[in-house]
Amino acid sequence: MLKVLVLHGPNLNLLGEREPDVYGSQTLAEINQDLIELGDELSLEVTCCQANGEGELIDIIHEFRNSAEGIILNPGAYTHTSIALRDAIAAVGIPVVEVHLSNIYAREAFRSQSIVAPVCAGSISGFGYYSYAWGLHAIAQILNDEL
Ligand code: DQA
Repeated sequence: MLKVLVLHGPNLNLLGEREPDVYGSQTLAEINQDLIELGDELSLEVTCCQANGEGELIDIIHEFRNSAEGIILNPGAYTHTSIALRDAIAAVGIPVVEVHLSNIYAREAFRSQSIVAPVCAGSISGFGYYSYAWGLHAIAQILNDEL
């Protein structure tokens, strides 16, 4: 089975209690469970990780570079700040789909720039859990040469 890493960035461990009007009421554990089940339907083995630190996220990407065929990444606030994360994505050379629960273009101006977007296969923003679900569909299609 093709392996996909779902990687969540800072503060996403608090989903469910963190600004539910912006990020929804689902917990991270519930999102991960739904993605693992969707992965089964798409014949993808999904592994989920979360880290609050920039360096930790980079270490996880490095760690999975030879075992995962694709990555779904919600970089949280590092989306808008991290050249190091962008460089890690470029370095590993496996397809990464950037996802966001909220529509980053409809919020504060500082959220409307994504530093990682240019090195990702594509980006999905604003659809809550479905940003991740559709990101997984996109990765499945990329890995099956259908995109
Ligand atoms: C987020 C959007 C970011 O701007 C924010 O810092 C997050 C979550 C999202 O999923 O909507 O932590 O990535």
